[in-house]
Parts: sequence; C-alpha cells; structure tokens
Amino acid sequence: MRHLIDFGDLTRGEWDELYARAGKIMDDPRQYIDACHGRVMASLFYEPSTRTNFSFQTAMLRLGGTVFGFADPNSSSVAKGETLKDTIKMVSGYADVVVMRTPWEGAAKAASLYSHVPVVNAGDGGHMHPTQTTADLTTITRLLGGVDGLSVGLCGDLKNGRTVHSLIKALAKFEDIRFFLISPRELSVPDYMRAFMVENNMPFTEVTGLEAVIPQLDVLYMTRIQRERFVDPLEYERNKGIYILTRRKLERAKEKMLVMHPLPRVDEIAVDVDDDPRAAYFQQARYGMFARMSLLADLANQPRLERTEAVEIGTAPVCRNPRCITRTERYLPPLVKKNGSADCCAFCDSPLG
Ligand code: CP
Repeated sequence: MRHLIDFGDLTRGEWDELYARAGKIMDDPRQYIDACHGRVMASLFYEPSTRTNFSFQTAMLRLGGTVFGFADPNSSSVAKGETLKDTIKMVSGYADVVVMRTPWEGAAKAASLYSHVPVVNAGDGGHMHPTQTTADLTTITRLLGGVDGLSVGLCGDLKNGRTVHSLIKALAKFEDIRFFLISPRELSVPDYMRAFMVENNMPFTEVTGLEAVIPQLDVLYMTRIQRERFVDPLEYERNKGIYILTRRKLERAKEKMLVMHPLPRVDEIAVDVDDDPRAAYFQQARYGMFARMSLLADLANQPRLERTEAVEIGTAPVCRNPRCITRTERYLPPLVKKNGSADCCAFCDSPLG
C-alpha cells in the first residue's frame, strides 16, 4: 500500500495485516511507542472534524511521531488561492505522511498524483472515508469475533454518507454479508455504489423503514442526515429526523446486535440508547485511534519518492459532478475508470457521459 484513498484499493491480505497490528497495539501499546519516532504527519483539514483529526493526531503522538497542519484552511495559503497541487508539493516536502479531509470529492486521489509521501483520505466530500472503515471493521471484529456471515443494516443518508460507501467497499472483501439499505428514496445509495454491489454479488434489500428489519440485523450502522451536502435546504428539512433509534425500537433487536455510528450524531440515536450494552459507537471511535496507529506505523515509514511521475495536464473537467475536485482544480488530468461496464470519473466515481 502506498496511499489509502479508497478502501476498495486494499487487498483482503493488507486489511488482515492492518487489523492484526491494530490488535497488537491495543493489547500492548508500549511495544509501539517508537514505531514512528522521527516521523512527521501533516494534518490538512479543510472541513470540520473531531474524531478523525484528533484520533490521527493522537495516533501519531502515541507512536512517538510529531504532527503539524491546519484545521482551518483560511490560516494557510489556500486562502490566497494556492492550488491543491502546489499545497501538496510543499507539504509532502515537509512531512512523511499527509492526512487530508476536504469537501471536494476525489481530492485525496488528486493529491496522491503529486505527493512525494503517502496520502491518506480522511474523508472527501460525500464520496469515501476509508479510515473510518478501519475503525468500523476493527469494532465489528473485536466485538463480534468476525465479519463474515453478518446481516448489516445501513440506515440514514446513504447518498451523502461517505462512511457508508467505504464500508460497503470493504465488506465486499468478506463472505456472506447481507445488506439492508434503510433510507428515504431520495437519499438512497448513489448509482455507482449500487453498481458496485451488483458487480460484486453482494445481496442487498433497499427499504424505507427501520423497524421492520431491525430483528434481522447483527449490526445496525446509523448515520446522520448530512445537512452540509444538501444543495436544496428543503430537501434537508424533508428528511431530517426521519430515523431515530430509541430504546423502545431496540427491544425487537437481537441481544448481541451492535449499534454503530461514525458520529457525530444529531438526533438519530436517542441519548437513552447510550447505556444499552449494544451501543458500540463510543468504543468504535476509540478503536479508530488504534486502527489509525496501525495504518501510520506502515505508511509514515515508507520511503519518500524523490521524483513523482509526470502527470498529464488537463484543460477542462470531464466530470459533471459539481462537487468533484476536477471542477475547481482544472489542471487535473481527465482520468477515467470502469465501474462495471460504465465509464466513471477516476476521482469521484460519478458516471461520465
Ligand atoms: N466519524 C468522523 O469522521 O467524525 P469527524 O467528522 O468528527 O471526524
């Protein structure tokens, strides 16, 4: 692994190795206190974050490394109009690994084209969030003993929820997972994710109601309606508060079902669920730090590339997704990839044509 942009790029073997190391770190953290000694992590957060930003920072500090960066891009030369390419060229000259979160879909992929050091996607708009997935899989494996054979309910804003997209990509690497995709119709998974599930023979049922399917689930993964991604505020108003998990609804769930949530929550899990033994979301956030320690122990120790490969210069975006990085960084090459038989933007996965 050179970068972590999309969980789909990881092999099952690479994940197993990451998880095994996360387990060792959790069991005996002292063995890893110097795993990143002398290494420096750049933390570029163009969007708000509590868990991802702080867990990456604490992960690096606990491994004996150091951290610099911004949580407000207006404090950097981005505010003066510096391109992503130039920012990454500079930052990858100072750091051993770059962790970045942006509102633009495909931005981490774009950064990886120009970086001399590994780039980690810490969330790119409504697209992907692969390191959240490392937290999610670690939680499921630690608490349920494994991932194969589970029935997983993904509930909420499945259109804009990047954590859900990454988790689906990851679960394609396991056996016999049954999905229940629980969302309002207008917030169902994007077409490129549905195509991915079909192509990978992943059985899924799309429903609008939570209560009818809850008894069948081993994992219920709740998500927030992502207000910041809505172009039409009325669409947000129509959908906010549509799913609220309460103690009463949990009465019909399996005794060992996990309630997960990437957090932050707004109102989709009532506070009275927090003390239910099935509520795993705070533990999940802590596991995220160990999973990120495992990731950094590998990526921050990779050799630096003194020269990056030449990249074709684009002149116009080929992608029509208004949130795609190619819409603002117009020098990016017009990269295309296949999702099944469809030609898609290689940055944000949106279908082309
Ligand atoms: N789960 C997650 O990405 O949370 P933050 O936005 O607080 O980082």
